[in-house]
Amino acid sequence: MATPQTSFDVVFDENNQEFSIIGAMRPESAAELAGCTALFEQSLRTVRGTLYLNVKRLVRLNNIGFRVLADLLIDACENKPGLKISVITSSVVGWSTRKFGTLSAVNDNIIVEQYDADFYPGQAFVEDDAIISLLRTQTKLTWRHERSMLARHGLKPDMAVADICCGIGDFAVLLQKEFEPGRLVALDHAKPSLDYARQVAKDFGVDGIEYVYGDASEMLLEDDQFDFVTCRHSLQIFDRPELILKELFRICKPGGRVYVTNEKNSHCLGEPRGESIQWTYNEVAKIVAHFNHDIEIGPKSRRLMLDTGFKDVKMESFMVTNMDGDPQDFADIIEAWKNLFAGKMATMRGDDPDFIKRFCQGFDDHIFAALHPKGYAGWPIWVASGQKPL
Ligand SMILES: C[S@@+](CC[C@H](N)C(=O)[O-])C[C@H]1O[C@@H](n2cnc3c(N)ncnc32)[C@H](O)[C@@H]1O
Repeated sequence: MATPQTSFDVVFDENNQEFSIIGAMRPESAAELAGCTALFEQSLRTVRGTLYLNVKRLVRLNNIGFRVLADLLIDACENKPGLKISVITSSVVGWSTRKFGTLSAVNDNIIVEQYDADFYPGQAFVEDDAIISLLRTQTKLTWRHERSMLARHGLKPDMAVADICCGIGDFAVLLQKEFEPGRLVALDHAKPSLDYARQVAKDFGVDGIEYVYGDASEMLLEDDQFDFVTCRHSLQIFDRPELILKELFRICKPGGRVYVTNEKNSHCLGEPRGESIQWTYNEVAKIVAHFNHDIEIGPKSRRLMLDTGFKDVKMESFMVTNMDGDPQDFADIIEAWKNLFAGKMATMRGDDPDFIKRFCQGFDDHIFAALHPKGYAGWPIWVASGQKPL
């Protein structure tokens, strides 16, 4: 579980008119919050229009604390004409939306928004349970490459490890069995995937993995906790991957390493029918970009890691192919991609039937290449890891 903090910090960002409270606010008297109250009142003087109250990482709040905050917000709206207060909560801190929501009923100028309800434009695509079988087969095919790579990137037994955006947790189970970490935290924002992950670990008798519901861009995990942090196939589903990398950097110990894998889908290939396959995967890159994700991020990982502050960045790539094992596994992945990209995403983008037909054809041709006795089908992946400076 995420470690709860026992004290709190308050910060005012004038540029964004954002007042943030982080940690656990459990005073025994209102007087204990004098510093917070003073900063809030001082901040308020500089605000025009909307003040944002960020409580995404306020993990605990007792009734005395809530009463003080409630009075501050209501008084501010009553005394400052035209002021609106937007309270930003997170689903990760389960009580906060409901609790702050009661203030909207008292004053219309206080609104409460759960920021991760629709924070990422395409998040819904990866948070439903149809993704489970796709992720399972993907990991089956990538693990045979990554199991030897992980050691080259610095993973050793007994380390404290975190797998962020762990999906259905199968990678975490494989890590636990193969590398026997001292601690293993697996965090994701999809509840169906986490439920599945817990069940799989139980069924396989794998103990000790801490599955955590959380938001990778605002983790409740503390700084400098992990020797090795992994984040696989996930930077590409955020519109601002640099925010996630910053968080991975934060929770990594100085001297530890962060390991990411990413794709460049337009480089998927196959023969026969190579041209049709190429056309479709170029379109995949475009449709994913339409939803503000970048499925072409693989080769950009080095720059992103260096820009975040990592040093000693190591990169390598590998190709999952139909010849790695059972070609039907490869075909199953492509079928699931077809449903996701040419089904859900194309429908949501409002694509016309002729386009969708051609889009589907490339996936069908990739499956044909994968299952053809003389065919070859590939899915390239880039691995990058970097060290957090000591
Ligand atoms: C493409 S999947 C990759 C899953 C896993 N790493 C794998 O390789 O099988 C992306 C994962 O990111 C998770 N995710 C999306 N938004 C997230 C967020 N804000 N915080 C944490 N996880 C998130 C999704 O639920 C999904 O499980």
